[in-house]
Amino acid sequence: MAAKIYTITSGKGGTGKSTFAVNLAAALAGLAKKTLLIDADIGMANIGLMLGLENSKITLHEVLADEANVADALYDGPNGLKVLPCGISLQGFKKADLSRLKDIIAEVSPNFEFIIIDTSTGINHATATSIEVCDEVLLVLTPEITSIADGSKMRAFSILLGKEVTGMVLNRTMPVHDEIYREKLVGALDLKIFEVLPEDVSIPNSIAGKSPVVTKYPYSEISIAMNRLAALLCGIKMPEPEEGKGQKKQKNEKKRIAGAKLSFSQSKK
Ligand SMILES: Nc1ncnc2c1ncn2[C@@H]1O[C@H](COP(=O)(O)OP(=O)(O)OP(=O)(O)O)[C@@H](O)[C@H]1O
Ligand SMILES: [Mg+2]
Repeated sequence: MAAKIYTITSGKGGTGKSTFAVNLAAALAGLAKKTLLIDADIGMANIGLMLGLENSKITLHEVLADEANVADALYDGPNGLKVLPCGISLQGFKKADLSRLKDIIAEVSPNFEFIIIDTSTGINHATATSIEVCDEVLLVLTPEITSIADGSKMRAFSILLGKEVTGMVLNRTMPVHDEIYREKLVGALDLKIFEVLPEDVSIPNSIAGKSPVVTKYPYSEISIAMNRLAALLCGIKMPEPEEGKGQKKQKNEKKRIAGAKLSFSQSKK
C-alpha cells in the first residue's frame, strides 16, 4: 500500500492552509482512513501549536537533520490521526535538510492511506519540495484578487514541477462573495472548486482550544463542508444532513460557538 499524498499550498500567505490541512486530515481520520499530517512549513510551523503538540522534542526538523528516526517523530492526533509536527526553533530550521523529505515520505507511506502535507507560502525551495513529493496539489485561496492572482502563479509553478493542480478551496468567504462574485473572481483560473468554506468564528475558537473544528464543532457549516470534502477524496457519498435533527444540532452549535467566543474574550481580560 502507498498513501495518496496531497500537498496544500497557496501563493499568498494566511489563506488558511494550515487550518485546512489540520481539518482535512482529521476528517479523513474520522472516516477511519489511516492518515498522516505533515507540517512541512519548516520555517513557520504552526501545526504543533494547533494540535497541542508544541512541546514535542523530536520533530520533522530533527528527522530532516538525520538526528532522529521518523517513527519517533509521529504523534497521536484527533480521530486516530498521526501527526509529524515541525519544530519552531531557528536552529532547527537551519539544520533541516529538505532534500531528505522524499525519502522520509517513502518510508512512512506504506503505513498510511492518506498523507496531507501543509506547506509554506509562495514560490521557494520548500514549497517546490513538497509539491514534488505529492500526488495531488490543492490550493487554498481567499476571495481576493491578490490571492487568486498569486494562486494562479502557484499553479504555473506547480506545472513547471510536473504537477497540475487538482483543484482549489475558496476559504473565508462571506455572504457578499455570492456566486456571481465568485464566478467573476475565480472564473479566469478555470480550476475546480472543491469547497467554498465560510468565514467562521468556530475556526479561531477551535484553534484556541488546540482542536480541529471538525472534532470541536462537528455540526458547524465549515465542519460539514470539510467532512464532505474528505468523503469525496475517499470516494464516499455523504448523506445530506438529516432534516430537523441535524438542523437543530447546527443551531445549538452556533449558540455554543458564540458562547465560547464570549468566554474566550472574557478570559483574556
Ligand atoms: N474559514 C475561516 N474562518 C475564520 N478564520 C479563518 C478561517 N480559515 C482560517 N482562518 C484564520 O486565518 C488565519 C490564517 O490561517 P492559517 O494559519 O491556517 O493560514 P496559512 O495559510 O496556513 O498561513 P501561512 O501562510 O502563514 O502558513 C488564522 O488566524 C485562522 O484562524
Ligand atoms: Mg500555515
